[in-house]
Amino acid sequence: MVEENIENLVAEKSLFDEFKEHSISEFFRKNKHMLGYSGRLRSMTTIVHELVTNSMDACEESEILPEILVEVKKVGSETFTVIIEDNGPGIPPEYVSKVFGKMLAGSKLHRLVQSRGQQGIGAAGVLLFSQMTTGRPLKITTSTGTGKIHEMEIKMSIEKNEGDIVAHKIREGYFRGTRVEGEFKEVTYNRREQGPYEYLRRISLSTPHAKITLIDPEETTIFERTVTVIPERPEVMKPHPYGLTTDELLHISRKTDSSRISSMLNSELSRVTMKRIRDLEDYVLRDKLLENYRKSVFWDTIVGCYLNFNFTKYFEIYGHYLDKKEIEDVKMLINGLPEGLSELKTYCLKYLVVEYLIQKLDDEQLKENKNHFKKKPENFMEFAEKNYLNASLLEEFRRKLKTITKSPEDFVKALTDLGMVSEEELEKYRKSIKDLLKKTPREMTWSDSEIIVNVLQDMDFMAPSTIGLRPIGEENIEKSLETLTPEFLKTLTRKPKTYKGGIPFAVEVGLAYGGNAGRSGEDSKKMEIMRFSNHVPLLFDTSGCGLTNAVKSVNWKRYGLRSDEDAPVTIFVNLISTHIPYTSAGKQAIATGSEENEEIFNEVRQSLMICARELDTHISRVRREKEEEQKKKYVIKYAYIFAEGLSSITGRSKEEIESNIINLLR
Ligand SMILES: Nc1ncnc2c1ncn2[C@@H]1O[C@H](COP(=O)(O)OP(=O)(O)OP(=O)(O)O)[C@@H](O)[C@H]1O
Ligand SMILES: [Mg+2]
Repeated sequence: MVEENIENLVAEKSLFDEFKEHSISEFFRKNKHMLGYSGRLRSMTTIVHELVTNSMDACEESEILPEILVEVKKVGSETFTVIIEDNGPGIPPEYVSKVFGKMLAGSKLHRLVQSRGQQGIGAAGVLLFSQMTTGRPLKITTSTGTGKIHEMEIKMSIEKNEGDIVAHKIREGYFRGTRVEGEFKEVTYNRREQGPYEYLRRISLSTPHAKITLIDPEETTIFERTVTVIPERPEVMKPHPYGLTTDELLHISRKTDSSRISSMLNSELSRVTMKRIRDLEDYVLRDKLLENYRKSVFWDTIVGCYLNFNFTKYFEIYGHYLDKKEIEDVKMLINGLPEGLSELKTYCLKYLVVEYLIQKLDDEQLKENKNHFKKKPENFMEFAEKNYLNASLLEEFRRKLKTITKSPEDFVKALTDLGMVSEEELEKYRKSIKDLLKKTPREMTWSDSEIIVNVLQDMDFMAPSTIGLRPIGEENIEKSLETLTPEFLKTLTRKPKTYKGGIPFAVEVGLAYGGNAGRSGEDSKKMEIMRFSNHVPLLFDTSGCGLTNAVKSVNWKRYGLRSDEDAPVTIFVNLISTHIPYTSAGKQAIATGSEENEEIFNEVRQSLMICARELDTHISRVRREKEEEQKKKYVIKYAYIFAEGLSSITGRSKEEIESNIINLLR
């Protein structure tokens, strides 16, 4: 036994002899595919994408109309030179080594602001890739417009995650902006769908105020701007209370300058006014009371005071449509209050929908529904929404749901009226809540944060501010998609919402049908999905992307299309947010679905369904018109024969009758 332990110790020692640390740059050197450097064409597009998005961000922040030059030259059998030049604010020379030589360094980290870049990896990734494939430095020419132009060559010290300036010349002259030149191998260039040409074409659709010139080995293309107004700069935003996590609030409490928890909530979160903080006291009181009575014999009375919804009666009427297990689930949820409050609300919503469906559907349809009753409420809602409900009906249910739970004030009043809680007890609770909010943020504990975060989710707050986010706008998307000369076009910019962590986002969609819309397939037009995040086109990882899945989740056949795939349709989806939940550092796919960030998924789906309904109306109208046209054609074809018959009966002129029939149809 002892010997065995000693042997283990020896083994551990040798194991830890090998224990090393390595830098983030070293990590990405070994995993360059994670940054988008995999496949020759994709690698080329990634280089262009990283540098162009940086130029766009820099121009946007400095409120400059972007003018960007992209040049791709073939300089050897396998080697290409890529040059990107912008008219942005320029990079102060002392920052150049950090921008291009250091991973996880940038001006956009830890800020809640809508920008194309967010990780501080892109620029250094380009240098890393050039260094790994050709061993060459990047050449940077930059000036902030001071009359001094800096020409620098930079390499990366991978182990140290630092930039090395290997040459630095300063010359006099006027220039404002940044020019990056690099040499790369393991890349290729062509005009296929996933190449830089298509990338820039799409970016010009989503950034109509930019002028982009592409000089490639074939020719020079200019993507002119269609809008000359500089969009307002996106604003830095505060986190919204919805979806805020305990850990995040605790993190905020350690950084804030506020002296009390109450003032911290007001100054560090968006939409939390001092009035809402006073309301928050009532909510905390509600939760404390519920918690206090959880194990008491009066528990059922307490829940009855809290919910206006009589589950027992409900189960009596509709019970036979539901699953036994599910009824048990709800009972368990009630017993698990208050943590389960929001979950309980989801269940209530489901029951409201069930009630509506039971009244509306026939036995046959109900049978089909029964299977779905047994599934999770979210799945059921999705099913019901897809097949039987529209968005406005769901909104109505949600509103109704609010009236089911009593306001905390009414709840406390109901308890006092029943003599369940004395004034002294209430005072004691109220004081402890006031004391909690008076604490200094640094004294805030995990459980304090948990209490506050829980009630914040239950309170009403205005939607996150719209000032910070900058959508492309319905009109501008329309202008862009009109270039496809479609027969039907609908665009929609939705109001901002939040997803996990109170992160604001908004969805914009466009749906073009007919004309040049859709991808050219072998013998028919296929559905084309153009994905964008913060106005940047996403060309890769299509199938793993939540935006694609949201588009595919719509039952397009229900909206008049013959098939989900074979249709002359171009779908434009732009997700804007202060933090886009990418699936990887390569930033090509969005992590959303029914499990993850489902708010985004649902919002994309909803917006598309709104557009699809209008498309449906359009297609039906066109079909009807066509049918009428066909009927008219028949009648006209036989008008001569009718006229002959009628003429012999009535004795009137055949020509007159025929022209009357034709006129009638016009
Ligand atoms: N063309 C440019 N003009 C001005 N500043 C720039 C330019 N390119 C990069 N920068 C600065 O360098 C920083 C680092 O750029 P980098 O691409 O590495 O990261 P990012 O854009 O912040 O995030 P991401 O990794 O998501 O692209 C930027 O945050 C910006 O401050
Ligand atoms: Mg970047």
